[in-house]
Formats: sequence, structure tokens, C-alpha cells
Amino acid sequence: MSTAAELAKIVIAEREIAERVKQLADQINADYKRTDLRTQTPLVAIGLLRGAIFFMTDLIRQLDFPVEYDFIWVSSYKYASAPGKLELLKDVEISIEGRDVLVVEDIVDTGHTLRYIRGILLKKRPASLKFCCLIDKPARREVHVDLDYVGFTVKENVFLVGYGLDYAGKFRNLPYIAALKPEVIKG
Ligand code: IMP
Ligand code: MG
Repeated sequence: MSTAAELAKIVIAEREIAERVKQLADQINADYKRTDLRTQTPLVAIGLLRGAIFFMTDLIRQLDFPVEYDFIWVSSYKYASAPGKLELLKDVEISIEGRDVLVVEDIVDTGHTLRYIRGILLKKRPASLKFCCLIDKPARREVHVDLDYVGFTVKENVFLVGYGLDYAGKFRNLPYIAALKPEVIKG
């Protein structure tokens, strides 16, 4: 099947993503300016591999104060739609003790991944810890997570691909975000 045949519809167009990422960056710039972060040590942006990389690079290049970045990688054994056990595949290498940290995530679904990451990062005693996600998909939320910045809320329970999001490793490099046809997802 070609890519297009597997996609139901485009949910967020390339230009909409760019506009919203700019708005989020403006909001983050304003918030952190108020905390005088500029005069302190750089913010540590932590991206979740592998889905958050496009969002992370687009976002942090629009921040107007010093930023260091690192990545954390958590894998779940879930395939497609059923949540499973989480495993830390790569921890952060920058020491975040006493630092202001912003976690950048692609999508929040059940909430388990962000809750797990929050626990790992809090143990390292950051000065502050905030969460920024491009897409909040609350339909299947199982655990509460506080999100400081949300790009888009997608109310329908659809499986999204593109702009970093994958299905079985595919579709990450699409410049837009699309819903996968339900019949493509293996049970
Ligand atoms: P959670 O732990 O259920 O919140 O799931 C978070 C992770 O599941 C995300 O970081 C994604 O990797 C993946 N995920 C959840 N929903 C989708 C989706 O619609 N498309 C692609 N990946 C998803
Ligand atoms: Mg992810």
C-alpha cells in the first residue's frame, strides 16, 4: 500500500504546526523571561526520543534565551494501541540538579510515559520541571499528568502519524500530522 492509501485524513497541516509551534515558543519565552532565566544558567530542554525530535528542534530554535538540550528514551512494549510496560533505554547525560528543565514530548495518550519520566527526572532534583507536548489526546488517559504547554488537543481516539509520530516505525518524516486508517492497525 502507498502512504496515502494508509492515511484517513490530514488532521494538522504543515502550516498549522508551524504557526502553533511559534505561539508555544512565544509563550515559553514570555514565561521564562519572567523568571529571569536569561541571567541564570541555560534551560535544559529534554526531548523524548524518537517522536519529539522535529517538534523539539522547531521549538527550541525559537527560544530567545540560552538553552541546552538532551534526550531521554523510553520504550514501551505496546504495539500500536495497547499500553504496556515501560523501560528506560537512554537516560539524560546533562546533570539537571538545580536546573530549569522543560520536557518536550510529541503526544500524550494514556499518560503513563510522562508520569514515568516525571518520576525519573524529579529524583535528579531539578530547580523546576515543566512539560510541553505537541498533542494531547485525552480520550484514552489513564493517569493524570500536568501539561504546562499543549500544542493541539485531539479529541477523537485516532492514531496519528507524521511530524515525528510513527506507526511501526513508518510515517515519521511526513511534514504534516495525519490519522491512520483504523484497518491499518493490527490488533
Ligand atoms: P502514553 O504513555 O500512552 O501517554 O503514550 C505516549 C507515547 O505513545 C507517545 O510518546 C507516542 O510514542 C505513543 N503514541 C501514543 N499515541 C500515539 C499516536 O496517536 N500516534 C503515534 N504514537 C502515539
Ligand atoms: Mg513518544
